[in-house]
Amino acid sequence: MVERFRIAGEARLSGSVEVAGAKNSVLKLMALALLAEGTTTLRQVPAILDVTFMAQLLDTLGCSVKVDTDAGTATIAVPGEIGHQCDYELVRKLRASISVLGPLLARCGQAEVALPGGDNIGSRGLNMHVAGLEAMGAKVHIEHGFVVAEAPHGLHGAEVWLDFPSVGATETIMMAAVLAKGTTVIENAAREPDVQDIATMLVEMGAQIEGIGTSRVEVTGVSGLLQPVDHTVVPDRIVAGSWAFAAAITKGDVTVLNAHAEHLELPLDKLQKAGAEITVLPEGFRVVMNDRPKPVDVVTLPYPGFPTDLQAFVIAMNAVSDGAAMVTENLFEGRFTFAQELTRLGAHVQTDGHHAVIRGVPRLSGAPVVASDIRAGAALVIAGLAAEGETLVSAAHHVHRGYTDFAGNLRRLGADVTVEPDDSELFWH
Ligand code: EPU
Repeated sequence: MVERFRIAGEARLSGSVEVAGAKNSVLKLMALALLAEGTTTLRQVPAILDVTFMAQLLDTLGCSVKVDTDAGTATIAVPGEIGHQCDYELVRKLRASISVLGPLLARCGQAEVALPGGDNIGSRGLNMHVAGLEAMGAKVHIEHGFVVAEAPHGLHGAEVWLDFPSVGATETIMMAAVLAKGTTVIENAAREPDVQDIATMLVEMGAQIEGIGTSRVEVTGVSGLLQPVDHTVVPDRIVAGSWAFAAAITKGDVTVLNAHAEHLELPLDKLQKAGAEITVLPEGFRVVMNDRPKPVDVVTLPYPGFPTDLQAFVIAMNAVSDGAAMVTENLFEGRFTFAQELTRLGAHVQTDGHHAVIRGVPRLSGAPVVASDIRAGAALVIAGLAAEGETLVSAAHHVHRGYTDFAGNLRRLGADVTVEPDDSELFWH
């Protein structure tokens, strides 16, 4: 169903909110289950649309997936024989569907995955995934909209230098290398906590991986299949960071539970520079903002740099700050679509290439806007809370893809936010 958020402005968020497992980890962990025959159990699974899509995708490969949203678990029963073709209808909804490429190639010696869809945030190449698999002996080509990969004689170890520490390419190569003959070294590997979680689960399953969390990851292939395990997904640092910025933007007081502050060092430092009081707690952190935020400059970079997935939130915070700031986006060129939507709420934002200059205004004013991706959608809802009057955010499904019960959590923090059917003509995604 096509839905939108209706947000009453001038809200101050107050209370506590609990974070579930990370979207960008759990989707890959579900794909990893393909490397083991038997039942894999994942815990702290977020109740989000992307998990439903990934479950459907694994079902089409012959697995039997049960997601229990109340318990936060997913069980994935993988048979002895699995399919190797992933059709377009499911894959186009989900960027993370490319995560099945590595496991399928490792296990079946072949994989056909439709070119993925996902967010509208710019071009999202696969050249590093492909170059890595080719270095390991695979033949890869694009045919009729599918990535077709074959390694009839199995994969072998290789030294792979990534041009850029790509999250997806690091994961694809790691997942393919665990059953390859010999040792694969990934240089300039991505170090995101999600990537570390995937490597950790692979090790629990019997894989041999050294250098987890560093930019040089060494994977020595093992023979046979891996073993199914019971694994708890790392907390979602982007969701935790979203709540932290939401507290600051609404001059609120929010305690974020089940969050690892050490995964958010730079965003929390920026929030402190903007005037927020941050208290790190054993189970998470608390963010209190009493005054209008001060402007903060931000440059997005791979982890441990400032995450591109929190860029929209820092723009929204700067939009109500008492000065001017520059935000530079280095990963996804399409992410400034959000900045244009924010101007509909009265924000002063000018973009030029990779840069956005934001001049804070004392108050935003509510308006109908459209979400272009998960983070843009969530940040528009939060900006609506800081606006005068009512804001409508269309294309709510983007937010449902990545945030568990976003409106419900906002209501529990004292806001008046509802989700309703959307028959407006603004819906164009
Ligand atoms: N890139 C290439 N070639 C490749 C791989 C990547 O050119 O072979 C480029 C991309 O086009 C992009 C940049 O490198 O410009 C970064 O891509 P990366 O591979 O690091 O990102 P990703 O794996 O596609 C994941 C998350 C994103 C998150 C980024 C960066 C998943 C499913 N998605 O994407 O999350 O922004 O890492 O941290 O894990 C989101 O959750 O909203 C989201 C978009």
